Amino acid sequence: MIIGIASDHGGFELKKILKEKLSSQEFNVIDYGNSVNEPGDDYPDYVIPLARAVASGEAERGIAICGSGVGASIAANKIPGIRAALVHDHFTAHQGVEDDNMNIICFGGRTIGEETATEILFAFLKARFSNLERHDRRLKKLEMLENNPFA
Ligand code: RB5
Repeated sequence: MIIGIASDHGGFELKKILKEKLSSQEFNVIDYGNSVNEPGDDYPDYVIPLARAVASGEAERGIAICGSGVGASIAANKIPGIRAALVHDHFTAHQGVEDDNMNIICFGGRTIGEETATEILFAFLKARFSNLERHDRRLKKLEMLENNPFA
């Protein structure tokens, strides 16, 4: 599975750790930046390229990290086709995929420990969308909204 990852300075250290964990498990990781820990950098500059890559299929799933995870999730969700959420628990990590087809998981580099983030990340990566009619119906409503936000 090709996994995209991106962070600003607030998520840089956690990104480094998660990249190592993923590579040791034979995931293919593409890093959309920042490539250096730069205190004044802006999360949209890295999260948006990641979100575009996931939306286009260049990466199958994504991980977006900023200080709190909030900016990263807001930015990622601006790209049509992205279903991103800030996740702090194991249940949400897999249910978000099973029911909502979440394709980008967001973390707060300043709010979550590395072991918790790792467990949550693997729950997210193992999960698959259920394809149940009711979930599909709800997602189609969101797709329609993306195509015509002010209808
Ligand atoms: C940057 O210091 C911080 O505001 C950013 O990483 C993030 O937490 C925004 O949501």
